Amino acid sequence: MDAADPITAARALKRGGLVIMPTETVYGLAADAANARAVAAVYEAKGRPSFNPLIAHVPDLATARRIARFDDRAERLAERFWPGPLTLVLPVADPEAVCDLARAGLDTVAVRAPAHPLARALLEAFGGPVVAPSANRSGRPSPTTFADAVEETGAAAVAALDGGPCAVGLESTVVALLDEARLLRPGAITRAEIEAVIGPLAEAEADARRSPGRLARHYAPDLPVRLEAEAPGPGEAFLAFGPAPAGERVFNLSPKGDLAEAAANLFALLRAADRSGASGIAVAPIPGEGLGEAINDRLKRAAGFVG
Ligand code: TXA
Ligand code: MG
Repeated sequence: MDAADPITAARALKRGGLVIMPTETVYGLAADAANARAVAAVYEAKGRPSFNPLIAHVPDLATARRIARFDDRAERLAERFWPGPLTLVLPVADPEAVCDLARAGLDTVAVRAPAHPLARALLEAFGGPVVAPSANRSGRPSPTTFADAVEETGAAAVAALDGGPCAVGLESTVVALLDEARLLRPGAITRAEIEAVIGPLAEAEADARRSPGRLARHYAPDLPVRLEAEAPGPGEAFLAFGPAPAGERVFNLSPKGDLAEAAANLFALLRAADRSGASGIAVAPIPGEGLGEAINDRLKRAAGFVG
């Protein structure tokens, strides 16, 4: 499997192959959304339970409107944030375009138009919706570099696009617009940014099956993770935030205390800490506002706290 160009990669998708695709959030493992065999291969490569539905990636709003029913709120959010790290869960309009397996049998579909130029080039060349879960094996941190993506699921892919390190580093925000607007997964676009466009968001339902990506022990490294740590204990690696003394196993998410920088570094530094030979990973407190909501959400899952 070699680093490919978008045209070659689009041909591979047409033939039912899987492709490693960079996006501005994290790397994805892409497949033709209409091809159930290709979609099955994605679930298999990730070891992902098949009740956890996938996001359909599209090059533009016109393609999105063919597969999902857009209401006024969806139009306004897409207008404001696409292309970009926002996923909308909407009633499905064309159940063949995104096959049953990709939707885990639901009558809704998750859609997003990514901003990364290589993702856009691939989607335009392919000319239809492409499902792409994060390219990690299920339950592991999402890959934010080409090397991490290839290490996680490269063996299952026939082509891989090298887009460099992901600029955002956290997965897209998932908003369901079925009845009330609900935040299913905090992410790269903050709650406040969404609410500024469509008004207050309802809380996600406790029923995890509505957004199975919210299961506990998602994004987990191999080592135990300890949150809200002021300093590392003996043998622990330390994920610092803000000014902190350097050290052999100290990985600073953002020395200047910037949440966007911390988001971009989060998964790569979790992986680095995991490989450092430490006995565990201590994580400094991270403020909860803005992007901090999504960062703390992923950290709690890495620590296995969220049900
Ligand atoms: O940033 C991202 O969104 C990345 C990049 C590659 O685009 N993709 C990603 O995909 O994070 P994945 O499969 O790891 O997460 C998809 C999330 C899951 O939490 C899933 O449960 C939810 O979206 N989801 C997908 N379809 C849904 C639906 N119909 N209803 C509710 N939740 C849905
Ligand atoms: Mg994922």
